Amino acid sequence: MKVKVKMHEGMFLVAIFSLAYTQLVKGQSLPGCPSTCGNVTIEYPFGTSPDCYYAEDDTFNLTCNETEKQLFFRNIPVINVTHSGELRILADISYTCYDSQTNSTNWSYNTFGMGNLTLSVKNMFTAVGCDTYAFLSTYGVRNYSSGCMSVCGSAPETNGECSGNGCCQTSVPRGNNYFRVRPYTFTNYSDVQRYNNCSYAFLVENGSFNFDAVEDLKNLRDVTSFPVVLDWSIGKQTCKQVGNTHICRGNSTCFDSIRGTGYNCKCFEGFEGNPYLLDGCQDIDECSSIRHNCSYPKTCRNMVGGFECKCPSGFDLNNTTMSCEVIDKQDPKYLGWTTTLLGTTIGFLLILLCVSFIQQRMKHRKDTKIRHQFFEQNGGDMLMQRLSGAGQSNVDVKIFTEEGIKTATNGYDESRILGEGGQGTVYKGILPDNSIVAIKKAHLGDCSQVEQFINEVLVLSQINHRNVVKLLGCCLETEVPLLVYEFITSGTLFDHLHGSMCDSSLTWEHRLRIAIEVAGTLAYLHSSASIPIIHRDVKTANILLDENLTAKVADFGASRLIPMDKEELATKVQGTLGYLDPEYYNTGLLNEKSDVYSFGVVLMELLSGRKALCSEQPQQSKHLVNYFASATKENRLHEVIDGQVMNKYNQREIYEAARIALECTRLIGEERPRMKEIAAELEALRVTKTKRKWSGNYPEPKEIEHLLGVEILSAQGETSSTVYDSIKNVRILDIEAGR
Ligand SMILES: *[C@@H]1O[C@H](CO)[C@@H](O)[C@H](O)[C@H]1NC(C)=O
Ligand SMILES: *[C@@H]1O[C@H](CO)[C@@H](O)[C@H](O)[C@H]1NC(C)=O
Ligand SMILES: *[C@@H]1O[C@H](CO)[C@@H](O)[C@H](O)[C@H]1NC(C)=O
Ligand SMILES: *[C@@H]1O[C@H](CO)[C@@H](O)[C@H](O)[C@H]1NC(C)=O
Ligand SMILES: *[C@@H]1O[C@H](CO)[C@@H](O)[C@H](O)[C@H]1NC(C)=O
Ligand SMILES: *[C@@H]1O[C@H](CO)[C@@H](O)[C@H](O)[C@H]1NC(C)=O
Ligand SMILES: *[C@@H]1O[C@H](CO)[C@@H](O)[C@H](O)[C@H]1NC(C)=O
Ligand SMILES: *[C@@H]1O[C@H](CO)[C@@H](O)[C@H](O)[C@H]1NC(C)=O
Ligand SMILES: *[C@@H]1O[C@H](CO)[C@@H](O)[C@H](O)[C@H]1NC(C)=O
Ligand SMILES: *[C@@H]1O[C@H](CO)[C@@H](O)[C@H](O)[C@H]1NC(C)=O
Ligand SMILES: *[C@@H]1O[C@H](CO)[C@@H](O)[C@H](O)[C@H]1NC(C)=O
Ligand SMILES: *[C@@H]1O[C@H](CO)[C@@H](O)[C@H](O)[C@H]1NC(C)=O
Repeated sequence: MKVKVKMHEGMFLVAIFSLAYTQLVKGQSLPGCPSTCGNVTIEYPFGTSPDCYYAEDDTFNLTCNETEKQLFFRNIPVINVTHSGELRILADISYTCYDSQTNSTNWSYNTFGMGNLTLSVKNMFTAVGCDTYAFLSTYGVRNYSSGCMSVCGSAPETNGECSGNGCCQTSVPRGNNYFRVRPYTFTNYSDVQRYNNCSYAFLVENGSFNFDAVEDLKNLRDVTSFPVVLDWSIGKQTCKQVGNTHICRGNSTCFDSIRGTGYNCKCFEGFEGNPYLLDGCQDIDECSSIRHNCSYPKTCRNMVGGFECKCPSGFDLNNTTMSCEVIDKQDPKYLGWTTTLLGTTIGFLLILLCVSFIQQRMKHRKDTKIRHQFFEQNGGDMLMQRLSGAGQSNVDVKIFTEEGIKTATNGYDESRILGEGGQGTVYKGILPDNSIVAIKKAHLGDCSQVEQFINEVLVLSQINHRNVVKLLGCCLETEVPLLVYEFITSGTLFDHLHGSMCDSSLTWEHRLRIAIEVAGTLAYLHSSASIPIIHRDVKTANILLDENLTAKVADFGASRLIPMDKEELATKVQGTLGYLDPEYYNTGLLNEKSDVYSFGVVLMELLSGRKALCSEQPQQSKHLVNYFASATKENRLHEVIDGQVMNKYNQREIYEAARIALECTRLIGEERPRMKEIAAELEALRVTKTKRKWSGNYPEPKEIEHLLGVEILSAQGETSSTVYDSIKNVRILDIEAGR
């Protein structure tokens, strides 16, 4: 039994680190250097002033004409600079045109010398005309000329295609740093003037020129220039030759330039930025963009240099679909892994339980010894029996498929949301047999909620009581477990007393019956259930009412099973502000008297119609227990009681109930009555009431008030002051203790 308690405390199903990540928007130039010219971003090793570019090579000395807002490499306009080893320039078009009026030819032939920059294979040599041939002469590592010709047989019609009729193209080798472009005409336009009288030739980045037969044959000269891609690299040596003296900075690597001389740098996989700058390469947050392929985006975890799809405990990643799947129990690798994990997480046990339940249903009875030992150790056999619905078990927990739940909630439609709490979202579901259910789904990625869900299955599977919300089943195929409950129609007691349904049609008879039902239920949980259970979060918001206003206790997410041989448990303090037992809060020792305290507060709420914590009240009376106690002490209890409830016939019962509530909220847990006794006392109130009604024999109200007022005062005089002390403690509670 000891083992189980330990497991509860050490239960951290999934360690989720939400890495606070802030994208550093860094300049791409050296610190203190201009980073743009016009709308072109300047990236180091390029720069526009001394000390701003890589000084070993004048190639990286660009100039910015501030008036023109244009960047230049020598006299050539630059339109894009990237750290990835490319530079885009604008290169003028070459042409030759014939003017029939003057019988003369106008022409422009361009040559480009680019120093250490060289032509990229991304360019195409292009000629446009109908009586045209053109040459490209390039010099550098290999001197050569190439060219193409275009003669129009008929008027060209094709648009967008440069395929010989009015336009021709040929590819360009990489590596040369000097080129000359020259178009020629075959006939001096003597007999093809019907098409055009110009011939054009130019280099252009592949894809940047779409041939338009009509417009381009006439007016291409007006375009004047096209983008051309040039390659650059650092130095003349390979990475091997430079060794550690390369200029690549942190989280980047050196690679030999594709153009054959020198080297370039690039960020490691999973990083981005300028590798030539200190801290230039930054980790990419794949999860905040679409750069990951996890099928559930919320399972994505960013890591330095990459990401992972992190499945919740009990699920395994399928590397093909990148989605989380329930672990296949038959996998031997998995079994080895579980043996170590079994000892530490009860949540895992439960997933195992449900999985093995499915397995049982499928008549796969391959029980392992380890699992069996573990079950026995924790009373798991009994749980198993109940879960599987075998024998005389009265709790039949169904396993729902993900598909089934999706259909029932209409794909988690927003209109089906019944409520959204700290624990998760509750949907209204309609099963194929038209029955209505409530489906609770934990918020994704919060492991403590998954823990509470599993805890709730464990607790609820122990209980079959008409005043406890029935767990119909669970679904473990999804990332977070889903719990399926019976659907309770009329909302929470909290809503009826203070909230949206504040109709106050709850008479004293209703309230007394609800109190009796809740008290009876808690008494059952504490003593009659097969394993004693402490609810830990008794409050009006957790008491549901059905259409007959019958109480149904809900939300066992925080509840604890108490091992038979233990009276109390040391736990992390958990509960709701206003209902939290001050003794439990101070000591951390949980026992059934903590529920008694919370019930006392609920009873006070029923009596007074006030909230457990009311901020409008003066400081002393903020907490209902405190308010009640001081009112009783000062013999003005009638001021506290909900006016709509009290009449001259039920005064005695109400005062009696008030006394019970005060007993329940005594500071010392030992002094509080047991739930069983409370249930009996409340029940007795109802019985005597019925009796009196029948006998028609009412005592004089005045007399009762007098008698009881004194009695309560003398019995509770000392309590009220101690209660106040305890309230002070509660007030300093961290808000996080509430939910
Ligand atoms: C830069 O600005 C010029 C005009 O100032 C514009 O034609 C060009 O498209 C711009 N380039 C980019 C990449 O925005
Ligand atoms: C430069 O080219 C890169 C890569 O083609 C592109 O992403 C970037 O937008 C361009 N920048 C400018 C200013 O044109
Ligand atoms: C910038 O361009 C303008 C116009 O073309 C020219 O007059 C001026 O001399 C240039 N400035 C520099 C610093 O080159
Ligand atoms: C950079 O280039 C410009 C023009 O191309 C030139 O005037 C200047 O002297 C060069 N700077 C250095 C440091 O060589
Ligand atoms: C030749 O070019 C000059 C200057 O661009 C222009 O003035 C002249 O009209 C042109 N002649 C022909 C025949 O196109
Ligand atoms: C142009 O040349 C043609 C034939 O070569 C001739 O017929 C024509 O008169 C010349 N025109 C002018 C303006 O010189
Ligand atoms: C290419 O031509 C240039 C100039 O004409 C010359 O200096 C160079 O040696 C030639 N290169 C080769 C590889 O022939
Ligand atoms: C074209 O005209 C030029 C002068 O305008 C002349 O030098 C050349 O020989 C002519 N070529 C042909 C093929 O007629
Ligand atoms: C070309 O690069 C070499 C080595 O980096 C350098 O020494 C040389 O000055 C550069 N040439 C030009 C024209 O920038
Ligand atoms: C590489 O990147 C990581 C994560 O951004 C960072 O912690 C580390 O300091 C970087 N290394 C260098 C040498 O800059
Ligand atoms: C992953 O999912 C695919 C498609 O659902 C399935 O065919 C495959 O068997 C799965 N792989 C593993 C290792 O479970
Ligand atoms: C998926 O890949 C990871 C690492 O590559 C591996 O550890 C894991 O076992 C794989 N899972 C499956 C189901 O194949």
